[in-house]
Amino acid sequence: MELDSCIKGRRSVREYTQEPVVKEQIETILEAGTWAPTGMNRQPWRFIVIEDKQLIKLVSDETKELVKKAMPQLVTKFNTNQDIICYDAPMLILICTEKDPQWTQINLLDCALAAQNMFLKAYESGLGTCYMGFVQFLNSNPEVLRKLGIPENYDIQVPFIIGHPKTKQNNATRQKPNIYKWIK
Ligand SMILES: Cc1cc2nc3c(=O)[nH]c(=O)nc-3n(C[C@H](O)[C@H](O)[C@H](O)COP(=O)(O)O)c2cc1C
Repeated sequence: MELDSCIKGRRSVREYTQEPVVKEQIETILEAGTWAPTGMNRQPWRFIVIEDKQLIKLVSDETKELVKKAMPQLVTKFNTNQDIICYDAPMLILICTEKDPQWTQINLLDCALAAQNMFLKAYESGLGTCYMGFVQFLNSNPEVLRKLGIPENYDIQVPFIIGHPKTKQNNATRQKPNIYKWIK
């Protein structure tokens, strides 16, 4: 796929079929993530791949409760039995890093850059993805992190879902780059 079509064609996907994702495809996508730039080339990421439906449900349920506590304005929207966190996706990937106050911000940036590589690679492979920002709330629940196999000294940086999209991804529009100044 041409790079421009890939960048502009990728959309966040919130409806998936239950078709399992092939392991080799995921390995290729994870590898694409590792080609992202990182601060001082530390490559701090560790990947947790979750296909277990019960665990994905646990993530959604626990996240919902944490969001409701932290963001009262979302309580009404989040009071539903529907999976409005992981959208019943067949797979959840957590990009994690070791906790280190000196690197908190850089670790997040590194993982976000890796995620975009992975989103583009997934799209090129016919898969859909969606960044699951709310799932980061789970960092305040060590019990759930343990159940997800995340070591005690690690945090979730970028959570995202991945799978076969149920429908074709829609076109989107974007604002033109807002160039405030171009100094020559
Ligand atoms: C940091 C971040 C957090 C996000 N968190 C969520 C989320 O929790 N749930 C969700 O459905 N989409 C989430 N998204 C996806 C955005 O809503 C989406 O990227 C945006 O609407 C643009 O649409 P597009 O990705 O299709 O271009 C998140 C995206 C980013 C970058």
